[in-house]
Amino acid sequence: MSERPRIVVSRWIPEEAVKLLREAGEVWVSEADRALTPEELRDAVSGAAAVVSMLHDRVDGALADAAGPCLRVVANVAVGYDNVDVPALAERGVAVTNTPGVLTEATADLAFGLLLAATRRLGEGERLLRARRPWSFHLGFLLGTGLQGKTLGIVGLGQIGQAVARRARAFGMEIVYSGRSRAAAAVESALAAERLPLRELLRTADVVSLHCPLTPDTRHLIDAEALAAMKPGAFLVNTTRGPVVDESALADALRAGTIAGAALDVFEREPEVEPRLLDLDNVALSPHLGSATVETRTEMALLAARNVAAVLSGADPITPVLPT
Ligand code: GLV
Ligand code: GLV
Repeated sequence: MSERPRIVVSRWIPEEAVKLLREAGEVWVSEADRALTPEELRDAVSGAAAVVSMLHDRVDGALADAAGPCLRVVANVAVGYDNVDVPALAERGVAVTNTPGVLTEATADLAFGLLLAATRRLGEGERLLRARRPWSFHLGFLLGTGLQGKTLGIVGLGQIGQAVARRARAFGMEIVYSGRSRAAAAVESALAAERLPLRELLRTADVVSLHCPLTPDTRHLIDAEALAAMKPGAFLVNTTRGPVVDESALADALRAGTIAGAALDVFEREPEVEPRLLDLDNVALSPHLGSATVETRTEMALLAARNVAAVLSGADPITPVLPT
């Protein structure tokens, strides 16, 4: 009998998914309560046929070479895969998979929640209460910005962008979007969404929400110039990847009042957060929680495990990422 394939999981995943993986091979799960260092990851993957990776793991040709010739699949437990060098793995005959679909609604919920936290100043209010400062209801107290009748600009009208737009419609917002390609006519009409060039979207929108993947083209898509193009009363929401925004330029813009506020779930150098942002009241912050529900994280890990099982059994991956 041939040896069972080695499956390496770079960090904790829900038990249901580990169980599924155990049916497909010998499973090793990192027990570190932090991301493995590149060296630790390289050592861990040695001899692996499958690697279940997290968005903080850099997965490139060198890592595939460290795994060795048995490596057949890398299942990234995230919809984004900017941490994976897909062409380098494809060259080595290694399949790459991600977890689209299962985190759409959770991420859209978080985006909208964080937007409300920023526009309604929830963090400021909570900080005031926890500081036990005196307060009383009055008509001018901690006034925020309403969303009804305002325009939401979605950058990247994919699955998550559309899910955010649906929520915004329920809040009485108008939708404009920008993106590499035009959305299907049915999507445009269901959301009453109009496609605009990015510059025009930035000039038009009261809230700009980012839902494009991180690629060389979208790195620092929102830079000082883009921020200057936004309305002075506008809000920026980022729940995709930190480097899509020039964080230092954003801190400048928030401090100068170039825009009214921001809601950030992701950061340029995670887990580091630009220190100036931490000192500003007009930004709502959360530590990359977009998909962080029990239900969604379980579905993500199960989908990654099913991808591993499929490839190791000789079948096609379920949700492959193809080199472009
Ligand atoms: C989370 O950020 C993901 O890409 O799934
Ligand atoms: C506010 O609490 C109100 O009753 O209007």
